[in-house]
Parts: sequence; C-alpha cells; structure tokens
Amino acid sequence: MKVAVIAETGAEPRVAATPDTVKRMIGLGAEVFVEPGAGEKSGILDSEYAAAGANVAADALSGADIVLLVRRPERATLSRCKKGAFVVAMMDPYGNDDALRAMAEAGVTAFAMELLPRITRAQVMDVLSSQANLAGYRAVIDAAAEFGRALPMMMTAAGTVPAAKVFVMGAGVAGLQAIATARRLGAIVTATDVRPAAKEQVESLGAKFVAVEDEEFKAAETAAGYAKEMSKEYQAKQAALVAEHIKKQDIVITTALIPGRPAPRLITSDMVASMRPGSVLVDLAVERGGNIEGVKADEVSETGGVKIIGYRNVPGRLAATASSLYAKNLYAFVELLIDKKTKTLAVNWDDDIIKATALTREGAIVHPRFRPKDAA
Ligand code: NAI
Repeated sequence: MKVAVIAETGAEPRVAATPDTVKRMIGLGAEVFVEPGAGEKSGILDSEYAAAGANVAADALSGADIVLLVRRPERATLSRCKKGAFVVAMMDPYGNDDALRAMAEAGVTAFAMELLPRITRAQVMDVLSSQANLAGYRAVIDAAAEFGRALPMMMTAAGTVPAAKVFVMGAGVAGLQAIATARRLGAIVTATDVRPAAKEQVESLGAKFVAVEDEEFKAAETAAGYAKEMSKEYQAKQAALVAEHIKKQDIVITTALIPGRPAPRLITSDMVASMRPGSVLVDLAVERGGNIEGVKADEVSETGGVKIIGYRNVPGRLAATASSLYAKNLYAFVELLIDKKTKTLAVNWDDDIIKATALTREGAIVHPRFRPKDAA
C-alpha cells in the first residue's frame, strides 16, 4: 500500500504530511513517498521526511494508492494518478463543476475534507476547524501589525493609552479564536453572529455579543450547526445595528460564511467610510467573495485612512503550524481507509464520514450534492 505526498503547486505553502504523520502511516503498514521539496515552505526538509522513513522521490505519485494534498489536484497531477487512487485534499467543491468532472474522468476516488460531517468522531479530521482556528488567530496578528496604536490599555508615566476596540463578525471557529486572541492582547472585544448558539460562546470568552435577536435569529441554525442565509429584512436590521456599532471600532474582523453560498456582504463602503482614519478591517471571507465591500484579494488597501486586509489563504501565513494540524487531520482520515489488521486498503462505503466526503468514484461524481442533475 503506497501513500504519496505531493508538493503543492502555485502559492500554496502548506503540505499534507509531516515527518510525524509519515511515521504513523508507516505504522499502519503503508510505504510513504514524498515529492522533493514538498515541505520546504512549511519548514520541513526532505531529509526529515527521509529520516521518518519516507522515500523522497520525484515520481512519488506513480502507482500510489492514496494521494495526499492540501489543494485539489490539477489536471497534470491527475493524469499521473493511477485509476482508482484515493485522492484526499481540500477540494473546494462548490461552483467548481469542471474540476470535479476532471477528477471523475481521471478515474480517481476523490475525498473532499471540507465536507466532513461535524460529528464527534470526525473532529480529529476536521480540516475546516484546524485551519479556521489559525486564520482567526492570524487575522488579529495581521490587524495589530497594520494598526498604528497599541491594543492593550497601558498606564505609563507619560500617560494612559486606551485599549483598542475590536469587533468580530461571525463567531464560528475562526471568529472565536479571533475573539480569544484579541482578548489576550488586551483589546475590548465585541462580536456578532446569526446563530443563537454563538451568543453564549462569545460571552464565555469575555466578549460582548451584539446582534438583532428576533424570531428569525432564534431559528437561524441548520441541524449541522451552520448558518442559514438570512432574509433581506433581517439583513437590513443587522446592517443598521452594525453601521452604528462599527463607527466606534478600531479593528473589525469578518469571518462570516455560509457553506455553498457566496459570503454574506456585511460591511458597505459607507460603513468603512464612517470609521476613524487608522482603523483596520480584516476580511477572512475574501476567498468566497468577501464580507466587506471593496476588499481586494491578497492586498492591504486603504481608503480615507482606513485599511482593509484581504489576504487569501490566511492559514498558509502560518504554514508550519497549519501543515502540522492539517497533516494530523489527514492522518486520522487515512486511518479510516486502512484495515489495521491486514494492513491493506479497506473502505466502508457506508461509513457516514466516507459517504459525506466521497466526491468521485469509478469515473463518476457520486456525491449527492454535486452529482449532475440528469444523473441523479
Ligand atoms: P463557518 O466558517 O461556516 O462560518 C463562520 C461564522 O459566520 C459562523 O459562525 C456563521 O454562523 C457566521 N455567519 C454566517 N452568516 C452571518 C451573518 N450574516 N452575520 C454574522 N455571522 C454570520 O462556520 P464554522 O466556523 O465552520 O462553524 C460553524 C459551527 O460549527 C459552529 O457552531 C462551530 O462551533 C461548529 N463546529 C462544530 C464542530 C463539531 O465537530 N461538532 C467542529 C467545528 C465547528
């Protein structure tokens, strides 16, 4: 049983395995092959993979039964995969029908890690959580670096510096970590979300919850724990509340996402213009269209002295940490694909985790959410 770890293409600095997870996979009975340089941008040397027992080889992919990546494989990579290979990555499946078809046509069995069900057993594999947590932390660090003032209150002989006011929009995994990080840095933190469950979590971190708490809000959570798209009326009420609140904030961090939908637009240009010069906004939803009007992908833009940070792939800005957690998530998933006794591939296609993540199999898109309509 051969596992291949691929060097990512493009600007992706993360890697799908670490020397630690290589060792563990060998413990499961796998032979692990790593493409040269795969870990370089995460601070992992080829020699470290080799010391862990991996074969570092340019043709790592050839004949691999399991292929581990951070991002969905490109056509050139797919063409090198053997038919029936299990390809495990963050597949970014929504709105990318052509790419899903390409994986089906290549004959690989693709698993999309972001489609994991949020059940207790899957927590150890939850790439969205592991990466969003780091993005939330990094958003505060990036904001603090661009902000021309200190975050904590400081009482010095030369006078008192007031604490900065930080507002976090979207209190999921990233938002909660942003709240915790901003609190650790001494800021005064408020936060909002459309899910009622978020209120208690925000308050337990010592931040104040700010939201329109009407009947719609009380029902605004899916069984899977995700946000629903809110009505136009609710969005208008939310916008009015946010508009008032935002004027008094120094730093705003937006993290609002709805699975499979464009990110909700929460901050208009007028709201940005109402903030004091020197204020900083960070949009963590930029890869899904952004929560902030006018955000520019991968740029720190400035209007009227207010900065908007729009970095994509924020977990990649902490590549070493992000890779170590992502690799552990993937290892836990790989464990599911292997029979520990016989040390061979053995997949239970009825397992909830497998059913929820399998995108393509035997030449077809098999996931009910992405299957072409006429094939359903
Ligand atoms: P996400 O990344 O899909 O969205 C981020 C946040 O934005 C969410 O809290 C969402 O409610 C919020 N949001 C959406 N539209 C909004 C709007 N118009 N205004 C303000 N906020 C808005 O969410 P994430 O981080 O993946 O978390 C979703 C839920 O899943 C949370 O309750 C989280 O605690 C839970 N979770 C459960 C796990 C488990 O295994 N049981 C693991 C990880 C998360």
